[in-house]
Amino acid sequence: TLIGSQPSKLTSVKALAESLHLSSIPSSYTFPKHANDEAYSGTTESIPIIDFSLLTSSNPVERSKMIQELGNACQDWGFFMVTNHGVPESTMKAMIEACRQFFELTEEEKGEYEGKHVLDPIRSGTSFNASVEKVLYWRDYLKIFQHPQFHSPNNPPAFRKLHRKGRKSGKQPSIMIANLYPPCPQPELAMGLPAHSDHGLVTLLIQNEIGGLQVQHNGKWVNIHPLPNSFLANIGDHVEYKSVLHRAVVNNKHVRISIALSNGPALDAAVSPASKFLEDGWSPPAYGAMTYREYVELQQSNKLDGKSCLERIRNS
Ligand code: SIN
Ligand code: FE2
Repeated sequence: TLIGSQPSKLTSVKALAESLHLSSIPSSYTFPKHANDEAYSGTTESIPIIDFSLLTSSNPVERSKMIQELGNACQDWGFFMVTNHGVPESTMKAMIEACRQFFELTEEEKGEYEGKHVLDPIRSGTSFNASVEKVLYWRDYLKIFQHPQFHSPNNPPAFRKLHRKGRKSGKQPSIMIANLYPPCPQPELAMGLPAHSDHGLVTLLIQNEIGGLQVQHNGKWVNIHPLPNSFLANIGDHVEYKSVLHRAVVNNKHVRISIALSNGPALDAAVSPASKFLEDGWSPPAYGAMTYREYVELQQSNKLDGKSCLERIRNS
């Protein structure tokens, strides 16, 4: 009954995937241009690895070497793996598990968090922005504004407990986004998350052991296979060191879960190009002043059609 009829409220991809005893996906999730697209399968290259324990080492030689490598990683990739970061593997696994349990709540229970506005403190839904997309994405999400004010769903109870334990101090906003990509019977026709760059300063990402993340590097889509117990880190639009396009593809066997932690500047601080650069003859500025709040709202309300939001707002 899901197929053919037009549900008034969008069903989660999880419920859709579980209801399909078919070998094909509904046309509303089909990107015809992906068929036979060689780029879709991605290439394999290893991304830079930053050993956090060396970055914070008391040995100045080790430390400066790692800082150098971090600089290179930011410049060349905008994306890197962080190892020896000190967060226990059991905590990371427990958080992934808590997110899995959230997605396993009934449609009705999750419906409590069906956000009306992109800046709602807790929002759960499907696709990226179903109101503006022509083709839907094979993804369910839970998005939580967790700093400076702490929000967390009441259900499942284990989620809130664990989530609260992981609170940090400080005023900078941090937004947690959990993604669920159910197995897809025709992965080559679907997309989990469109190409985008992240708002904010830096995003940290963990995932269960299933691949799907692709990062653009030198014009190619590179498949990312993180080391066990590592974080992935990427630079966001508000640093513009190298805020890189990335996307998520899906597979037909395994559930993939990822959790992104986006860290931004203060929500109401106006961000604009540093005056130092303008004085140095880099004028006219490529971007006007904008608060982080305005930026997030803009990014989340539009289609992510393979462009970064930064590109869209750039002064011509
Ligand atoms: C994201 O870009 O927010 C998530 C990508 C992923 O699922 O790996
Ligand atoms: Fe992202």
